[in-house]
Amino acid sequence: MSHYAWKWGSPPPPVKRHSEVKHALLRNYLIDYFLTLVAMPHQDRIKLTIVDGFCGGGLYISESGHEVPGSPLVILNAIREATLLIETRQERRKPIDLDVELICIDKSKTTLDYLERLLKDRNYGAALAAGKIQLVKGQFDQHCAATIQRAKGRSRISGRAIFVLDQYGYSRVPMHCLRDIFATLPHAEVILTFYIDALISYLNEVNLAGFEQATGIRGGMTAAEIDEMKKSPKWRVHLQSSLYQSLTSQCSAKFYTPFFVRPQRGHGDFWLLHLSQHWKARDVMATTHWNHSNHFSHYGRAGFHMFSTGYITKIDSKDQLQGGFDFSEVAASVSQDTMLEQIPVMLFDIAEDISFEQFFLQLINTTPATRMMVESTLLKLSQLNEIQVLGEDGDESRARVHLKPDHVLRLNRQIRLMF
Ligand SMILES: C[S@@+](CC[C@H](N)C(=O)[O-])C[C@H]1O[C@@H](n2cnc3c(N)ncnc32)[C@H](O)[C@@H]1O
Repeated sequence: MSHYAWKWGSPPPPVKRHSEVKHALLRNYLIDYFLTLVAMPHQDRIKLTIVDGFCGGGLYISESGHEVPGSPLVILNAIREATLLIETRQERRKPIDLDVELICIDKSKTTLDYLERLLKDRNYGAALAAGKIQLVKGQFDQHCAATIQRAKGRSRISGRAIFVLDQYGYSRVPMHCLRDIFATLPHAEVILTFYIDALISYLNEVNLAGFEQATGIRGGMTAAEIDEMKKSPKWRVHLQSSLYQSLTSQCSAKFYTPFFVRPQRGHGDFWLLHLSQHWKARDVMATTHWNHSNHFSHYGRAGFHMFSTGYITKIDSKDQLQGGFDFSEVAASVSQDTMLEQIPVMLFDIAEDISFEQFFLQLINTTPATRMMVESTLLKLSQLNEIQVLGEDGDESRARVHLKPDHVLRLNRQIRLMF
């Protein structure tokens, strides 16, 4: 059953608060994405394919009666905004060419008809005619392979593509699609919606088996195992944590951000996962969250290993909501305090010298912190004489502002003796 109805001549569907949150993130991320890429020297042209795999009709109506853009318009507006920002902020020798092709997929014909009329209305008729915007009717999983090939054909070497997979529910994006994306396109990124609560709230062995069959996520449980698991007061935590680990380990993305959204009025939480093959992409997404903390919250702990306890929507016995981590200034300072305590213990456990690069790459998936935040915490620990930072000659470095990837981190001897 579709929860959204777009029919030309009738008002568009009402926008849901969580859709606005997703759209804000998408807009902010795309702008940050382009600004990061153009900051690279000699970059005059960015060739990118964006696939909006569950695109919808492109327009909503807000509670106050205003029109609100859906994801295709959010993407197109973000490209325009980024182009303007680049032109005004940077003194470039040549104007930047953002060569983006947008492929919109939806299984509903009336929805796509609506989107086509809307785009023509908003002056995108020429882009449609030139194939810069393509509308594809059908299920995402049926068109996934063709869109991957299209993105590859357009950008053979870098394979730049962003897949916005805003599925309704949790079972319409099979793992083989994600694996194909990452195997074929070295710079692909996926922003995936996953309604974790819809799965957990009605969990039984039939649901779970159906979910596993549809997605290809393995980790099966029998009815007896599910019953046994549900006896534990923390079963939601365990299940979220294990599903998260199954998904991230089986989709073959190297880097991921585990951010969660809690819609108002108790519609259940969903994950908004960002999956990528490059630490920089992950870092830009984490930075976007910190830069726009008013739009977003995710719940988890500060510092590293934020998943050690998992994340839950309800503490089962008392039915209370878990506290949030909101990317605010307070959260940033708690993150630094937590990392100041954690890093010496981690360096003690690692036991050997380790470069900043290796240290960061080992931990990036377990923290809401950005590379810059980890770097400044390490520099602070060095000023506090808790760790040493060594240059390539093996001598203590005087780095105070930035660390180089090959700077070596070592726990101070005195601190080592305290453990
Ligand atoms: C939540 S709405 C779209 C939201 C849109 N991404 C936005 O943010 O404005 C979900 C859309 O997915 C479409 N849909 C559902 N299952 C699909 C599938 N397997 N493949 C492609 N589209 C699908 C529905 O017709 C509906 O228009």
